[in-house]
Amino acid sequence: MRHLIGGLVGTLCLFDAVSAASISEWKTRSVYQTMTDRFARTDGSTTSPCNTTTGLYCGGTWQGTIDKLDYIQGMGFDAVMISPIIENLEGRVEYGEAYHGYWPLDLYSLNSHFGTSQDLLDLSQALHDRGMYLMMDTVINNMAYITNGSNPATSIDYSIFTPFNNEDYFHPYCPIVDWTNYTQAQLCQTGDNQTTLPDLFTEHEDVQSLLLNWTLNTMSTYSIDGLRIDAAKSVTPSFLRKYQDQIGGFMTGEVMESSVDIVCDYQNEYIGSLPNYPVYYAMLKAFTEGITSDLALAVNNMKAACSDVNALVSFSENHDVQRFASFTDDMSLAKNAITFTMLFDGVPFIYQGQEQHLDGSFPPANREAVWLSDYNNGTELYSLIATLNKIRKHAYRMDKSYVDQQTLNIYQGGSELGFRKGIEGRQVIMLLSTQGVSAKPYDVNLWVSYNAGVNVTEVLNCKTYLVDGDGDLTVDMVEGLPRVFFPTELMEGSGLCGYSSINLTFADIMTGGGSLKASSATGRIHISPQALGLTLFLTLMGFTILF
Ligand SMILES: *[C@@H]1O[C@H](CO)[C@@H](O)[C@H](O)[C@H]1NC(C)=O
Ligand SMILES: *[C@@H]1O[C@H](CO)[C@@H](O)[C@H](O)[C@H]1NC(C)=O
Ligand SMILES: *[C@@H]1O[C@H](CO)[C@@H](O)[C@H](O)[C@H]1NC(C)=O
Ligand SMILES: *[C@@H]1O[C@H](CO)[C@@H](O)[C@H](O)[C@H]1NC(C)=O
Ligand SMILES: *[C@@H]1O[C@H](CO)[C@@H](O)[C@H](O)[C@H]1NC(C)=O
Ligand SMILES: *[C@@H]1O[C@H](CO)[C@@H](O)[C@H](O)[C@H]1NC(C)=O
Ligand SMILES: *[C@@H]1O[C@H](CO)[C@@H](O)[C@H](O)[C@H]1NC(C)=O
Ligand SMILES: *[C@@H]1O[C@H](CO)[C@@H](O)[C@H](O)[C@H]1NC(C)=O
Repeated sequence: MRHLIGGLVGTLCLFDAVSAASISEWKTRSVYQTMTDRFARTDGSTTSPCNTTTGLYCGGTWQGTIDKLDYIQGMGFDAVMISPIIENLEGRVEYGEAYHGYWPLDLYSLNSHFGTSQDLLDLSQALHDRGMYLMMDTVINNMAYITNGSNPATSIDYSIFTPFNNEDYFHPYCPIVDWTNYTQAQLCQTGDNQTTLPDLFTEHEDVQSLLLNWTLNTMSTYSIDGLRIDAAKSVTPSFLRKYQDQIGGFMTGEVMESSVDIVCDYQNEYIGSLPNYPVYYAMLKAFTEGITSDLALAVNNMKAACSDVNALVSFSENHDVQRFASFTDDMSLAKNAITFTMLFDGVPFIYQGQEQHLDGSFPPANREAVWLSDYNNGTELYSLIATLNKIRKHAYRMDKSYVDQQTLNIYQGGSELGFRKGIEGRQVIMLLSTQGVSAKPYDVNLWVSYNAGVNVTEVLNCKTYLVDGDGDLTVDMVEGLPRVFFPTELMEGSGLCGYSSINLTFADIMTGGGSLKASSATGRIHISPQALGLTLFLTLMGFTILF
């Protein structure tokens, strides 16, 4: 290895003011994952065609994303993930172009298909003006080269890359043939013989410095709050740890892996967050195959093996896996999967179009243009997600430790799973069904940890249920729908089921100890004189009142 660049490490201290938000800040958030090219166009078109099979750019932009933030925020999300932003390879192979952003060419230029530097600054500003976070998908494992059928071992011209403009910055070419062999996945090249992905020599200090410099600069320039690390499984683990340590803040690294031990080992040793793939696979078994035992087990195993399950990403779809509706078009099962995703431990991610019940199967079919659904905000799943974001936020307002509490299994039936999360008396309980929409009505007797004799509200159907003297709750299961409970006396401020919404953070709303006390579900609020000193926005019965 030639000595590439001397003294670069010393320059890194110039970039210390990175805006990244911490893991604990991200835990309170929920993320809407966009794929920039397929989310929204600058012209606002809802009819422009987009053939996922041909894999060409379809015209989505950062400006288009800005124009659709109401649609995202209407579901209650307070963070948005965007595709990798840097300049990618131009050119087309048999399965298309670099519309996804995973074919890096030049770190120091932006992908002009998505817009200008000003557009990206505007998107960042627009998100922050709304109190939302910006997450950037990031490729640090590789660059990309179109071989178009010729042998990658001999045909890559490394001089085209910026700044990694010669082969010394890369591992020698070798194809990954065994994906279960992590050494091979880390040293060899992802991609194929149409587009190969030259693997950066991330053990080398000069490569590390260039990546760190670029990341710190970019995050500071565009005020980026957190990162997704693409292909983290293929990045040298020691560099992952260094990258996490030096960048700081929240980053979630893709390790597509069902093994609890491997995923937790990554969290314990190398990177603060990962998508929770072990629970994802078990979740699929529950809601697409009706096997409840794996999910209950995976929930427990992850808690035992991972240092912080609540820092992982909870998801049921993303751009790399088949959409849920490609397994089954059953709407009740989709609702159960989304309910679990939103209320389980970790930072929930919903992939664009999930709210539209899109049904694309394996990539690229799962990368449909969202504009073709006309951004319909009246769908059942759109409003379900909005409700779940509200109850999650409310549970957090009622108890700041909520996002650090671990989910407990409280019920496992042949076709039901019950979970609780949160401290005694303030927990959210979900009872999920694997039966689907054609299920006959029946009751489940659920032992809950609420106090005997209290009322609980089911936040999806807005009915009140009484916990009996033994602490049992009789739950009517209808059409395989999920049930989500929260103590009725703590519902004020949730914005659900007719209760007012309050954006204040206080835990004493019903204890009488606070300066602000809600009287009932009708939205009347008594404000004590002390509270009048505060500036409050209370959204009551459709009116926003400024005190
Ligand atoms: C999309 O492209 C594929 C491959 O070129 C083609 O077979 C298919 O008919 C196209 N679909 C539409 C709706 O045009
Ligand atoms: C749907 O969007 C329209 C504007 O496009 C807005 O007026 C309405 O409040 C939204 N509804 C929901 C449920 O978000
Ligand atoms: C790859 O080959 C196909 C046909 O063999 C051609 O149409 C296409 O332009 C080539 N792409 C590049 C980037 O050379
Ligand atoms: C894993 O891959 C590496 C690099 O290709 C190879 O040297 C090693 O023998 C492989 N290990 C196993 C268990 O196959
Ligand atoms: C390219 O890859 C395909 C699928 O992996 C394989 O069948 C084919 O033989 C390869 N072609 C070349 C020229 O290596
Ligand atoms: C650091 O990165 C910025 C852009 O991200 C680039 O302009 C600059 O040349 C880089 N500096 C070094 C020393 O690599
Ligand atoms: C529970 O609700 C019922 C009817 O809605 C009400 O009569 C009862 O007083 C409530 N119990 C408690 C403990 O709040
Ligand atoms: C409540 O919301 C308003 C308007 O969205 C905002 O200006 C205010 O800072 C929020 N207050 C708190 C305490 O979060």
